[in-house]
Amino acid sequence: MQRDIAAIEKMDKPDCDPTMLERTYAQFPLVNRFVSGWRSVYLKLVRPALPHGRTGTILDIGCGGGDIAMNMVRWARADGYNVKVLGIDPDPRAHDFASRAAAAAGIGPENLEFRQATSSDLVTEGSIFDVVFSNHVLHHLNQSQLAGILADTQSLTQGIAIHSDIRRRRSALVFFGLATLPLARSSFIRCDGLTSIRRSFTPSELGRVLPRGWEAHTAGAYRNLAIWRATPRTRP
Ligand SMILES: C[S@@+](CC[C@H](N)C(=O)[O-])C[C@H]1O[C@@H](n2cnc3c(N)ncnc32)[C@H](O)[C@@H]1O
Repeated sequence: MQRDIAAIEKMDKPDCDPTMLERTYAQFPLVNRFVSGWRSVYLKLVRPALPHGRTGTILDIGCGGGDIAMNMVRWARADGYNVKVLGIDPDPRAHDFASRAAAAAGIGPENLEFRQATSSDLVTEGSIFDVVFSNHVLHHLNQSQLAGILADTQSLTQGIAIHSDIRRRRSALVFFGLATLPLARSSFIRCDGLTSIRRSFTPSELGRVLPRGWEAHTAGAYRNLAIWRATPRTRP
């Protein structure tokens, strides 16, 4: 199955149905819980990179509805870490939804902030984080956007960076298509999810597009992870 980079997700259209988009953000937590595997990534990669004795900083690039950023706060707090998580998304609709979700969850600005911003805005500001991550963003990007986000990530990370995404497989289309049938009419989750799978990378394709210093990993049967570790030698 070839990568279908011409396919466009409905949620990426500025004039898409706002009610369907709102429900899509609202259903992201459900999808992320069952397909994204962030609890395991947190335990294996994020938690070991959090500092003791000062506030750890975490950046979520392309945070969408903000559920993974909120989980990072909850998980780190439960493990006794003090963290400040920043979720950025260039889409004002995502920023608005995530801000409302954080307020509804009672997570305050001392632990979590959402901004309508790009990774390059943060590079310009000279920001730096212990952990930088994204979920389901890489497949949205064209070649130059991907190169830009990866370069920005390196500048923004003083610990570890993890970009997690879907791994393109025919069986993923079948399983995701069946599992999300009940959501087909209520949001863009099913149709955009199927488009996402078609746009996503195989592990070897991901390995080929990552610059030197990055590692392409698989997680389970359906996930790719692009990982970069900052060291005194590689830090720009
Ligand atoms: C499929 S959603 C994923 C949202 C969230 N990370 C999640 O997993 O639930 C992709 C998000 O990436 C954002 N996005 C698209 N292009 C981006 C870019 N160049 N930089 C940062 N975010 C981007 C979109 O606005 C959208 O909110």
